[in-house]
Amino acid sequence: VSLRTRATDLFGTRLPIVAGGMQWLSDAAYVAAAARAGIIGFITAASYPDLEALRDAIRRCRDDADGAPFGVNISMLPKLTDADRTAAVVDLVAAEGVRFVETSGRSPETHLPSLKAAGIKVLHKVPAVKYALKAEALGVDAVAVVGAECGGHPGQELVGTFVQAATAAERIRIPLLVGGGVGCGRQLVAALALGADGVVVGTRFIVASEIWAHEDYKRRLLGLDETATTLIMQSLRNTMRVLANDTAAIVQALERQGATLADLMPHVAGSVGRRGYETGDADTGAFSLGQAVAFADRIEPLADIVRRFEDEALATLSRLGRPAPP
Ligand SMILES: Cc1cc2nc3c(=O)[nH]c(=O)nc-3n(C[C@H](O)[C@H](O)[C@H](O)COP(=O)(O)O)c2cc1C
Repeated sequence: VSLRTRATDLFGTRLPIVAGGMQWLSDAAYVAAAARAGIIGFITAASYPDLEALRDAIRRCRDDADGAPFGVNISMLPKLTDADRTAAVVDLVAAEGVRFVETSGRSPETHLPSLKAAGIKVLHKVPAVKYALKAEALGVDAVAVVGAECGGHPGQELVGTFVQAATAAERIRIPLLVGGGVGCGRQLVAALALGADGVVVGTRFIVASEIWAHEDYKRRLLGLDETATTLIMQSLRNTMRVLANDTAAIVQALERQGATLADLMPHVAGSVGRRGYETGDADTGAFSLGQAVAFADRIEPLADIVRRFEDEALATLSRLGRPAPP
């Protein structure tokens, strides 16, 4: 039995698992660990204050990845403060010889010509099939479609991953990753059964040893089940699935009173969340988190989490292939 798919062929990985970029968390150490574990990860460009810091991270990742493939995540959510530096990031990534980019947040159309000219393969990630079809028409190399269960930005329609994966597979012709709530090998096999070429995973990997966040934050996640997340910012059409903590409750109360983005910023700003990862205070800050936190059962090296995914997927395939008992 093999887990080879069009996704493993595209990325040159052993397994059809993509570790989606995670703001503040997907750094050189984590992405290199993903590479060595046989999956592909993406350094989040937006986590770095300037291009020099991003360049250092790319170089460190390459040194630690033992020649295995990795990429850079370029999230293009509407910028609230900074001037948009996406074009400069694309140039840097190309100059550094990075071969894979994960884009998200809005259409990659403007930047696709430069990415293609540099020979970079583009995985565009979206929360609904209609955007995946648009990206496919633009000529991206692969799409990832995430359902309502996902950590981070599940979009506005909130179609669940099971329906989204099956409908996407019917309509998308290029390599397709599906995600949102994926945390075990049985779900990887289910995704393949639904017609996808692999899965994109975020939440399940936060408890990996290589994630720099404070041990107390990870320990908090170990005790949680699939009901431990909630949606904020729906009223602003910028829905986020986050850890259901004090901040989320405050934000939801403010939203019921008609709060504007400016009212919410002191609570949802990325800098507040980053401080929580630093101190381990999981109650203050909007922490992107999906329902797959239910599968986060121990703090261990990423390679061990991935190994359990793989073992379970292979066992599931052989169980399904076995004839029913008489
Ligand atoms: C803590 C966290 C931060 C994330 N930050 C980003 C990001 O900066 N850019 C991005 O494209 N996706 C981001 N995501 C989404 C993931 O890349 C991935 O699509 C998602 O986690 C998959 O769903 P799951 O959490 O159910 O596994 C983030 C997710 C989490 C959990």
